[in-house]
Amino acid sequence: MPETSYLLGIDVGTTGCKALLIEAAGRVVADATIEYPMSTPKPLWAEQDPDDWWSATVASIRRVLEQSGAKAEQVVGVGLTGQMHGLVLLDGKGNVLRPCIMWNDQRTAEQCATITEHVGAKELLKLTGNLVLPGFTAPKIVWVRENEPEIYQRIAHVLLPKDYIRYRLTGEFFSEVSDASGTSMFDVGRRRWSDEMLAALDVPREWLPEVTESPVASAKISAAAANETGLAVGMPAIGGGGDQAAQAVGSGIVNEGLVSATLGTSGVVFAASDSYRIEPEGRLHAFCHAVPGKWHLMGVMLSAAGSFRWYRDTLGDAEITRAEQEGRDPYDLLTEAAATVEPGCEGLLFLPYLTGERTPHADPNARGAFVGLTLRHTKAHLTRAVLEGVSYGMCDSLQLMRDLGLSIRQVRASGGGARSKLWRQMLADVFNAEIVTLNVTQGAAYGAALLAGVGVGIYADVPTACQQVIALAGRTKPGPATNTYAAYYPRYRALYPALAAEFAAISNVVSGS
Ligand code: XUL
Repeated sequence: MPETSYLLGIDVGTTGCKALLIEAAGRVVADATIEYPMSTPKPLWAEQDPDDWWSATVASIRRVLEQSGAKAEQVVGVGLTGQMHGLVLLDGKGNVLRPCIMWNDQRTAEQCATITEHVGAKELLKLTGNLVLPGFTAPKIVWVRENEPEIYQRIAHVLLPKDYIRYRLTGEFFSEVSDASGTSMFDVGRRRWSDEMLAALDVPREWLPEVTESPVASAKISAAAANETGLAVGMPAIGGGGDQAAQAVGSGIVNEGLVSATLGTSGVVFAASDSYRIEPEGRLHAFCHAVPGKWHLMGVMLSAAGSFRWYRDTLGDAEITRAEQEGRDPYDLLTEAAATVEPGCEGLLFLPYLTGERTPHADPNARGAFVGLTLRHTKAHLTRAVLEGVSYGMCDSLQLMRDLGLSIRQVRASGGGARSKLWRQMLADVFNAEIVTLNVTQGAAYGAALLAGVGVGIYADVPTACQQVIALAGRTKPGPATNTYAAYYPRYRALYPALAAEFAAISNVVSGS
């Protein structure tokens, strides 16, 4: 192996492709992100051109090689990660047949209902560990069969986004267990394609790639790709992981007891699990982890920091103007005022279902709400109520995990919202668990690079890799507000069931049906 060797992580994300180059000791040497567009040809649709991903991959790899001055042979392995669930269809010659139907595309509600009726919800949980959701891959295949038969007839390969990039890099068709878990065609418990589901869906097994464990070197960079990217011919490409599993590896969430809470636009609560567990009603996703022999449970709330952004944009004009004048961040001004209000906001509660919800209430009609307003409430109360409502919403996922018998030792917080000290303390209090932050914040691409390091033998295994490079940067323990939140949380939980039928009725009025 060359004297200084580097590991490359590639994240084929929703807004762009990120390439990240790290040293074996974990130091980030270079990173570059190249953006690409997403198209919404019809309401609820979300598509991307896989060729755009490839151009961005090539450009971002070239950029990190240039930035770092690394020679091709010093880059010893590449790990792939990316947006999950997307449907990429290729013909027999490897040509893309139509734009990718992405994870956030909602066109397949009807196909999901038909599959669920045909297979049965209980059987779906038994076969795949999960319910079929519109974002997942299988209902999209059924949609293409029903709506684009001329394309359907030409399908020879079905790939997930990052696995298409693997194909372009190596000419080989491979996936790995964590990403395959989100297709509704994978037997998550046995870590292999589900023959039963494929038969029920009438999808030929030959269309699907071989699946390996995530840290496995499954293919090698081809001469053509080496020429385009500047990487060395024959360099190993490692399985990698779906973005959530790879991000978890990049945050060291690899052993049971560790959980991550990501406060991005959406909010994700992710728990590593040493055994295969499923939530009896399928309210949590149960997927294979990128750590061999481990699984993970995941709850996704759709508007987490996105709720706070909506609040800033809609009600934060004064703070935006003041922040401009004072050279400060409007979020800081809002949270400073919120910190002066007592926890629980004197009974004001916020429901954060601004874009419907996924976990724990899979309900596209769910809506946001402020409940419990009185004359005593000020704007600072409203702000604090938004932050508390999102924290309760994240706690719902954590609670489902606790109900399955997972003991939660530590929650690692990341994402834009976790930069707020107030919000971190609130999470610690609402969760009644220690919240920590980490020295690394490079997300999924970092995890993919670590998986590459395991695949080429630099690290003994995934937990060892994490131990060697990830350290705690800050700790927040549950404080005096814990009891107050324990009293309000059941009130929050009672609100959705009380309002759900009305949310549906309101949506009917809005849509005129
Ligand atoms: C995971 C999920 C998202 C997408 C895009 O289930 O839907 O994380 O992978 O990031």
